[in-house]
Amino acid sequence: MRRVAILISGRGSNMTALIEAAAADGFPAEIALVISNRVDAPGIATAQANGVKTLVIESKPFGKDRAGFEKLLQATLDEHKIELICLGGFMRLFTAEFVRHWYGRMLNIHPSLLPSFPGLDPHGQALRAGVKISGATVHFVIPETDAGPIVMQGAVAVVDDDTPDTLAARVLDIEHKIYPQALRLLATNSVGITGDTCTTSTGASASLDDTLISPTVI
Ligand code: GAR
Repeated sequence: MRRVAILISGRGSNMTALIEAAAADGFPAEIALVISNRVDAPGIATAQANGVKTLVIESKPFGKDRAGFEKLLQATLDEHKIELICLGGFMRLFTAEFVRHWYGRMLNIHPSLLPSFPGLDPHGQALRAGVKISGATVHFVIPETDAGPIVMQGAVAVVDDDTPDTLAARVLDIEHKIYPQALRLLATNSVGITGDTCTTSTGASASLDDTLISPTVI
């Protein structure tokens, strides 16, 4: 059973999906701790309601002193014997040193098919680019924002009358499906990193018959 910390800054819906998945019999990871860098993150109450220990380590007082914040964060992770980290809408950049320390053990989710549309407003970016398929990506964290070896992706169709909000809602459903599955792969040592890419073992191959075409011609 791998000990996982989820780091959040806000709503925490991906956190909730991970907590719910991990509560099921046989899930190979335990959500041992939720850490928020914001005292007002709504996800804190949700985690507590699910019986998960929560801590707030406010990053704001540290200003640009990222290393100072991370020292406290690392001490807390050590104290709780955390082995894996899942970022769930954690809106604070890390130093390269912290990222290197956790390389291969820290996942992030981003609501686009990376490497397209990293950063802010991914759904607005996708709509402006006119893509017909978008989705979500779980990846290992590297110093560059919203980049790193891709563990899992899920796709949704983009429709003509989508707004950033309607697309976000459809992608969020996918996020909640893939994040627990990606954590399962990591917790069972089923993901290998070769250079910039991941390979997956143990019966988790893509179904080559699964095709998503968008738009569909009637
Ligand atoms: C999610 O859509 C996540 O993919 C995104 O923030 C949202 C957090 O929602 N993350 C990023 O954009 C990372 N660059 P949640 O708090 O309900 O999980």
